Amino acid sequence: MQYYPLEQLINLYDGYSRQFRVGSHSLMLLQHQGRLRLLQSHCPHRGHSLEHSLISNDSIQCPLHAYVFSCDSGELLHASAEPCADLTVYALTYESSAVGVML
Ligand code: FES
Repeated sequence: MQYYPLEQLINLYDGYSRQFRVGSHSLMLLQHQGRLRLLQSHCPHRGHSLEHSLISNDSIQCPLHAYVFSCDSGELLHASAEPCADLTVYALTYESSAVGVML
């Protein structure tokens, strides 16, 4: 595994959201109510971008079909049609003044 720095800590704020491509991984780093998370950037249902998702109560809602996933575990919490896989949640790694991921 290798460490990939994603963002300087000084650049983070509530409402921050940015997508990254690291190898074959499409990632979305976001901060909501002081909590920083790194999620798979596309919905496991039909692959829609989660860039403009609604985030509330530690869950994220895909804008296309309104499926809801836990931001903590990635678990599928609500599906309006056929179920899909859970969302991948990545562990964050902090090194000096940056946050990143081990992949
Ligand atoms: S593509 Fe996200 S809910 Fe269908």
